[in-house]
Amino acid sequence: MTTITVPLGERAYDIVVEAGALRHFVELCADLPLPVEVAVLSNQSVGPLLADALCEQLQASGRRVLSFNAPDGEVHKSLEWVGRAYDALAEWGLTRGGVIVAVGGGVVGDWAGCVAATWMRGVRLVQVPTTLLAMVDSSVGGKTGINHPRAKNLVGAFYQPSRVVIDPLCLQTLPPRELRAGLAEVIKYGVIADADFFVWLEEHIEAALRLDAETLERIIARCCQIKADVVGEDEREDDAIGRRAILNYGHTVGHAIEATAGYGEFLHGEAIAVGMTVAARLAIVAGVMESGAGRDLLARQTRLFERAGLPTQMPADHDFDRLWQAMTLDKKARGNKVNFVLPLRLGEVRRAENITMDEVRLAIAE
Ligand SMILES: NC(=O)c1ccc[n+]([C@@H]2O[C@H](COP(=O)([O-])OP(=O)(O)OC[C@H]3O[C@@H](n4cnc5c(N)ncnc54)[C@H](O)[C@@H]3O)[C@@H](O)[C@H]2O)c1
Ligand SMILES: [Zn+2]
Repeated sequence: MTTITVPLGERAYDIVVEAGALRHFVELCADLPLPVEVAVLSNQSVGPLLADALCEQLQASGRRVLSFNAPDGEVHKSLEWVGRAYDALAEWGLTRGGVIVAVGGGVVGDWAGCVAATWMRGVRLVQVPTTLLAMVDSSVGGKTGINHPRAKNLVGAFYQPSRVVIDPLCLQTLPPRELRAGLAEVIKYGVIADADFFVWLEEHIEAALRLDAETLERIIARCCQIKADVVGEDEREDDAIGRRAILNYGHTVGHAIEATAGYGEFLHGEAIAVGMTVAARLAIVAGVMESGAGRDLLARQTRLFERAGLPTQMPADHDFDRLWQAMTLDKKARGNKVNFVLPLRLGEVRRAENITMDEVRLAIAE
């Protein structure tokens, strides 16, 4: 078992990573302490696989438990389903002393987190992420939110959980494509913050793909530690601090691909694998990395994506003008230049704020 503390003063909390953690969830939350009233929010796919057993365990420990499952899918990360959760909580009677446990991927975590942040002006929240992406990214850092018809993640709050409980064994039922997509974020952490971890991944990527529990535990713990450190320095993505921005490596182009490709064409992790590839090329084009070192980083990153079964090429039929438009519409863009996070060397990145259309076009065309 590995415990990582997210250093946020009075909002500090622990992330527990352990293969088999869910089997003794109640024990792992004993010190919170876990109250008598627990509302478990999940979705209709993950509920029967994982949340139901958790509810039984909570009931067996003498707690009063509400189980509420939204339908599966990003479209239900919505105001409507926040409202439906409120209805269920109101009818059941979750008081301020209760806790919400979110069991699922990033969609459930963001939605249930949003409910916890607002129900009675905030009730305690425990995150139980069940996708690799949620384990290494969305469950850590306190961003909660829902989509608006005009844009993703437009509404929400920074709201830190009281605990995150991560059980890598949950990944056994995850569709393999979702696992691979999560590995894109894992590889990202190596490039942005830890060259040794990147080298370690080069040696262990196959073990991760075959769900070796010890390998996954180590990967998840390292990624959570890196994210915890970053969030500890810059909890609210403050522009003046800028630290949290490094987590957006690969995301400028990645988000544009997601926004312009047809629905379901690219999973988030797949889009950012392509986005990281473009960003590494851009670092060479824009002269941020010396060409020899840049080529080496690009080759190693590309090779690792390929071994993880991730794409590195733009879709053949992509429309550059639409992509550029999506990049400049992104809430992190300013004027006609686009912000990028570019690698300096393995384990270190920096923000580049004045990347031009021609530079991006060149990097994509490579
Ligand atoms: N809050 C943040 O900081 C943050 C960061 C990154 C992404 N996000 C958000 O996360 C969401 C994406 O999350 P995701 O990639 O986890 O997708 P997801 O939550 O949609 O999960 C992917 C699929 O896997 C299923 N699933 C989840 N766990 C499973 C398991 N153990 N076994 C079988 N099936 C399982 C889900 O029901 C779903 O069908 C997006 O909405 C994104 O905006 C938030
Ligand atoms: Zn991401």
